[in-house]
Amino acid sequence: MGVLVVNNLRKTFKKNSLLGFKKEEKKVLKGISFEVFEEIFGFIGPNGAGKTTTIKVIMDFVKPDSGEILIFGKPNSDISVKQNLGFLPERPYIYGSITGKEYLDFCADVYGIPYYERKRKFAELLELVNLTGVEEQPISSYSKGMVQRLLFASTLINDPDLLILDEPMSGLDPVGRNIIASVMKMLKEKGKAVFYSSHIIQDVERLSDRVAIIVDGKIKLLDSVANIVQEFLRGYVITVRKRGSSSLEVLKVGVDELWQLLERLKSEGYEIISVEPDRLSLEEILVSYIQENRRAG
Ligand SMILES: Nc1ncnc2c1ncn2[C@@H]1O[C@H](COP(=O)(O)OP(=O)(O)O)[C@@H](O)[C@H]1O
Ligand SMILES: [Mg+2]
Repeated sequence: MGVLVVNNLRKTFKKNSLLGFKKEEKKVLKGISFEVFEEIFGFIGPNGAGKTTTIKVIMDFVKPDSGEILIFGKPNSDISVKQNLGFLPERPYIYGSITGKEYLDFCADVYGIPYYERKRKFAELLELVNLTGVEEQPISSYSKGMVQRLLFASTLINDPDLLILDEPMSGLDPVGRNIIASVMKMLKEKGKAVFYSSHIIQDVERLSDRVAIIVDGKIKLLDSVANIVQEFLRGYVITVRKRGSSSLEVLKVGVDELWQLLERLKSEGYEIISVEPDRLSLEEILVSYIQENRRAG
């Protein structure tokens, strides 16, 4: 069984209609299921798709209408589960007048980490997210990216086996995103499971082992990144050179016409320089699902 099992979650929010006399219901999660193993699992989808709501249910902050969550084989409300989880909220609130070290101390208190372990542990965590040396400064003097990295480091303070990260890359520059990405990879290598959401696809494609695409409260696709992009193969890009010529020509061909075209090029005296798959990127795939959903209304 997976480290995290999410089984058929449904959630409806009541919202006041504009006129105020009729309560409308909004179905936010429409039967979400997936399983996360010791891997990096990306949960991607547009704003408003239901990512944060799913994560709040996983964290037991919000009760679903129906469905269940198992973490390490136990219900997510189990106290032993919470001890072994790391969580980064989407919009964390952090008190600016304390220092980074005081914040880490606060987190260490929550998990009952003994004082004699803290010095080494804090140094290790600060090093990991490239914040060594700023821990005595108030958090209000940190950049947005530094705050995000401090919060990310603090989720590791109890050495959790499962990390739940809601938009860990948002608000970070490329260097900051790289730091977070390499720590996520390191955690996976140590046998941890990392589940994270993102509405920005840039890093997801190269970082995740598997992804689930959520649009409008439903999982549209769940597979390894390699399989997904393979499935969305459009055709091939062929680079050729006419024998005796010095200039290259680039041709695009559909999946079914590749061999036929290669034969023809050969017989016409072309030299084949390269044949490369022409795949949709994960980003293009996500966009196509969003557009399909809009058309369906
Ligand atoms: N507490 C709430 N009350 C009413 N509607 C909510 C509440 N929380 C989220 N929603 C709605 O649920 C939908 C999904 O939101 P969310 O899970 O935050 O999406 P995502 O994280 O994918 O951007 C949105 O339409 C949002 O407005
Ligand atoms: Mg969100």
